[in-house]
Amino acid sequence: MSGKIYLVGFGPGAEEHMSYKAKSAIAESDVVIGYTTYIKLVKDLLEGKEVVRKGMTEEIDRCIEAYEQAKLGKTVSLISSGDIGVYGMAGPTYEVLLQAGWTPEHEIKVEIVPGSTALSACASLVGAPLTHDFCSISLSDLLTPWTVIAKRIEAAGQADFVVALYNPKSGRRTQQIVEAQKILLRHRRPDTPVAIVKSAYRRRQDIQLVRLDEMSDCDIGMLTTVLIGNSSTFIKAGLMITPRGYANKYNSLTGDAKAGEKAGVSLTMGLEGWYACLRQYVQDNDGLTLEKIATYFSVPVGEVLNAIAAGNDAGEHKAALIAADKLSEVVTACQSWGRLRGIVRAEAGAVSELFLQAEDFVQRGDWLNIETDAFHCHINWSKVESAYFACRESKSYGVNFVDAAGHLVFRLLLTKDDGEFSAEKLASYQATWLALAEVSNHD
Ligand SMILES: C[S@@+](CC[C@H](N)C(=O)[O-])C[C@H]1O[C@@H](n2cnc3c(N)ncnc32)[C@H](O)[C@@H]1O
Repeated sequence: MSGKIYLVGFGPGAEEHMSYKAKSAIAESDVVIGYTTYIKLVKDLLEGKEVVRKGMTEEIDRCIEAYEQAKLGKTVSLISSGDIGVYGMAGPTYEVLLQAGWTPEHEIKVEIVPGSTALSACASLVGAPLTHDFCSISLSDLLTPWTVIAKRIEAAGQADFVVALYNPKSGRRTQQIVEAQKILLRHRRPDTPVAIVKSAYRRRQDIQLVRLDEMSDCDIGMLTTVLIGNSSTFIKAGLMITPRGYANKYNSLTGDAKAGEKAGVSLTMGLEGWYACLRQYVQDNDGLTLEKIATYFSVPVGEVLNAIAAGNDAGEHKAALIAADKLSEVVTACQSWGRLRGIVRAEAGAVSELFLQAEDFVQRGDWLNIETDAFHCHINWSKVESAYFACRESKSYGVNFVDAAGHLVFRLLLTKDDGEFSAEKLASYQATWLALAEVSNHD
């Protein structure tokens, strides 16, 4: 007889917030395994079942026990509050099973039963704080180094995410919430709304709506989730609300679209609008290099090239993406462009400019080597993710090779002969552009 393991998330606590499937999985089970507090929360569903209670630190024991019981042919529910896949037992259980040689094809079947996680349960009690982009971060440094946690808080703060903090504080971990507050205050106003929800949908439920600069002084414990608003979140009539963004497009929630905006299509400042805005800036400001534009908008050069390539209205700048399967072809093609100027940027910021002949290139495995009597330059070709033709009318004509993050790996530029670009080289460059560009806007 083959056993079965249900990994059951039973929601925040109250039975009425448990899913129908969670209840039926427990009802179908011979054995229910869980942390002592969780077992108490579902005690009314346990009549006639074998119950295995484990302490908080015995997580792996719970997984092993579930597997052992299933091997005996029993149906087992391993239970967890909220969603068992969110900071829950689903991950460790699969790790234990896979380490023991189990695979999804094994006769012991495993099924995850999702539940309402703490962030949605807590949000429902304070209004609608999560109706725009949000992220969750656990402040527990029991298994995660603090530098990793701090980096995530910093990134979330910088990117203006609404932040849900799980495991914000315990008897021993009291400083992490103070540090989190410090990091977020670098990016958010001191009066940013914060909801501190303790024991949502349980007997000791408690809700505090406070400001970010008050957060760490509040009553926060092991069973608390903290929801920190983004720069648009507000509190009105005792409700914490994060706008969906309707005000960006409409005059009022039910009113007409604002000038230039249309229902059902991206905002004027959606992706296309953002690209158009960058091109407009380039059009209005002659003489800018790609690097200067990138610095002005705080984006990598690859993003500037994407924006320029998306239209024909970036003033003196033109660009086109080179099809991904044609990257090597472009290196071969530039051998007919004569003497080139190569620009290579080191990670730490040093910029080298090298005069070379394209036939000096040698490709060896992952490396594109440029070897002359004067220098050897080795470019890690495996880092090159995409390439763009880019030119500024009569000023520069070249190819930019960028990495996955959009940073320039190296650039090849045509050189002038006697102060002019030769017609022959230009014709060859333009022919390569037409042949290899994914969408050509070069005329
Ligand atoms: C190990 S995590 C488990 C999360 C759970 N699997 C879930 O999806 O909600 C424990 C943390 O979840 C949050 N939490 C769980 N139940 C909660 C509740 N009823 N009210 C508020 N926060 C809760 C707290 O931040 C707590 O420190």
